[in-house]
Amino acid sequence: MSDSNLIQIDGKEYRFSPGETILQVAWRKGIRIPTLCYLKEASPTGACRICLVEVEGARSLMASCAAPAAPNMVVRTHTEKVIKSRKLNLELLLASGHHYCVTCEADGDCRLQELAYEYGVDTVRFSESPTRYPVETNTLITRDFSRCIMCGRCVQACNDVQVNEAISYGYRGVASKIVTAGDRPYTTSDCVFCGECVQACPVGALVPQPSRFKGKPWAMKKVRTTCSYCGVGCQMFLHVNKGQVAKVTGVEGIGPNYGSLCAKGRFGYDFIHDPERLKTPLVRENGALREADWDEALDRVAENLNKIKKDAGPDAIGFLTSARITNEENYVVQKFTRTVIGTNNVDHCARL
Ligand code: SF4
Ligand code: SF4
Ligand code: SF4
Ligand code: FES
Repeated sequence: MSDSNLIQIDGKEYRFSPGETILQVAWRKGIRIPTLCYLKEASPTGACRICLVEVEGARSLMASCAAPAAPNMVVRTHTEKVIKSRKLNLELLLASGHHYCVTCEADGDCRLQELAYEYGVDTVRFSESPTRYPVETNTLITRDFSRCIMCGRCVQACNDVQVNEAISYGYRGVASKIVTAGDRPYTTSDCVFCGECVQACPVGALVPQPSRFKGKPWAMKKVRTTCSYCGVGCQMFLHVNKGQVAKVTGVEGIGPNYGSLCAKGRFGYDFIHDPERLKTPLVRENGALREADWDEALDRVAENLNKIKKDAGPDAIGFLTSARITNEENYVVQKFTRTVIGTNNVDHCARL
């Protein structure tokens, strides 16, 4: 890298790689520039104007998330002009919607709320937008566009990250809103309910419906775990309140899923506390199932496998392994099938 790849931010010089934006260099060096619309995995839209910085020689403030770093650039991230502009933008964003934090699911985990508080935004200057959208809900996702700041992160998450292309910008001017094709409800649209848009939303405009009123963010204990649905091994946080899983989110910044989850991982956790969940083995006796302990159940399985093998040969037996057990457990099943039972009749549910 040549010495011309140097940028000055807040009085210090830093090297940058070609293609890096001002924001990326600043964040890499631990310099805090606030953002609302920036989504790391997608190309910047410059929609929120919160990341504005002053660049020497530039006629106006620049959106650092979209401006490429350039040799000898002199950037200031917290001048009076920058702060004033961020405050104004926050004020306008607050006034453009109906932000009633008391019953909002994002309260305590809302980027707009955090920044408005940090910048001491006074909301009395502008009157609140009279536009109210009806809250749209289905069993998995609730949309409240009266809280939407049109940052576009949901659109990027759906189109660029998940490549589902189920939502986009609709209408014009003050009537602008995020829509599915034909502005239909999610349930009759191309949406596959992966919830990527919900996780990307920085405010309370998109929330997981099953989590509503299950606890404010500060009441939740976040437990890191691995999704149990398939062999991808997505990393997730269980948000636990009073011993009950209230929400699931993807762990951002690490593989294999980098924050993304599918519909099963994100929303399919109700089995955990289901009263009908099987907790003990069942054995069939005289045509009816009854509860048994593991020793009895395993003895019964061993007895019957031995009997079938003796009467009909090992090839009368077959095993199907599962995506819901670990690789090591799957390995043990095939080893058991081949060496203990003596057949190659082993397959996996992924091929069914
Ligand atoms: S989206 Fe944020 S600012 Fe708006 S009501 Fe919810 S918590 Fe408050
Ligand atoms: S749930 Fe997934 S598919 Fe549906 S709109 Fe959101 S990101 Fe797109
Ligand atoms: S719904 Fe959320 S993520 Fe989408 S544009 Fe509105 S505020 Fe941004
Ligand atoms: S974060 Fe840069 S414009 Fe929104």
